[in-house]
Amino acid sequence: MSARTALITGGTSGIGKATAEILRKRGYRVAVTGQRPESVAQARAELPDEVLVLQADARSLADTDQVVADVGARFGSLTTLFLNAGVSRPMTLETYDEAAYDDVFAVNTKGQFHTLVKALPLLSDGASVIVTVGIGATRSLTGNSVTAGSHGAFLAMIPTLALELAPRRIRINAVSPGFTDTPMTRASLRTLSGDAAAAMRALAEKNPLGRLATPEDIAGTVAFLASDDAAYVTGQEILVSGGAGLAV
Ligand SMILES: NC(=O)c1ccc[n+]([C@@H]2O[C@H](COP(=O)([O-])OP(=O)(O)OC[C@H]3O[C@@H](n4cnc5c(N)ncnc54)[C@H](OP(=O)(O)O)[C@@H]3O)[C@@H](O)[C@H]2O)c1
Repeated sequence: MSARTALITGGTSGIGKATAEILRKRGYRVAVTGQRPESVAQARAELPDEVLVLQADARSLADTDQVVADVGARFGSLTTLFLNAGVSRPMTLETYDEAAYDDVFAVNTKGQFHTLVKALPLLSDGASVIVTVGIGATRSLTGNSVTAGSHGAFLAMIPTLALELAPRRIRINAVSPGFTDTPMTRASLRTLSGDAAAAMRALAEKNPLGRLATPEDIAGTVAFLASDDAAYVTGQEILVSGGAGLAV
């Protein structure tokens, strides 16, 4: 592949933004999406000038069509698609909220799937698709059942999608972060415990490697999966958790 190009949904913050920075440094032409005007404005100010920053709601098919049209006009084709737009809405059986449930699945499952469907004509043969899932999809975490279910639904699609995409040598893999220091984590921990900083310190102490992930820890694995070093890897989930979740 000559010109390497990437579309990162949810690339205005956290893991997606760190991935945009790494891929740009490695010579990719990069486009990112975000939903809120504030996050889009901040990303435009902070990401390198050459990164195309688009405002689009992953829940909207019309927005997704527009993203595909804009990226197609700018890049012609895509060698990497990072499906990373996501939300987390901590709730237990007692605090269940139907609107929040629908929203989580609309972004994390349906939005991701439709972006893949819509972007398919742009993907070059041999392209790499990476999907952010999360350690919670396969491990227990209080208050995380709905978010876990939305990511787990996409994880369940990965083997089938890998075989559907294989005739075009397109690879698809999931990356599953453990607790990562991003705005989402801080907001979720605030909801669950009130004191996000104390909860983050406690999580770092419990982690086998003694710290939370940085967004760059996850972005490095995404960059690997995007690269030719992973040319024979498809249909897999890579857990990036510092060993969290290994103990019985
Ligand atoms: N942080 C963790 O510990 C962790 C662990 C496991 C899995 N994950 C997953 O990793 C992914 C990235 O999370 P993060 O921690 O980097 O969070 P983050 O900093 O909050 O970033 C989330 C990104 O998704 C975008 N987004 C949210 N809703 C959207 C929508 N409807 N349409 C388009 N974009 C939307 C956000 O843009 P706006 O700000 O404009 O809405 C932002 O760019 C998520 O799928 C999350 O569930 C995170």
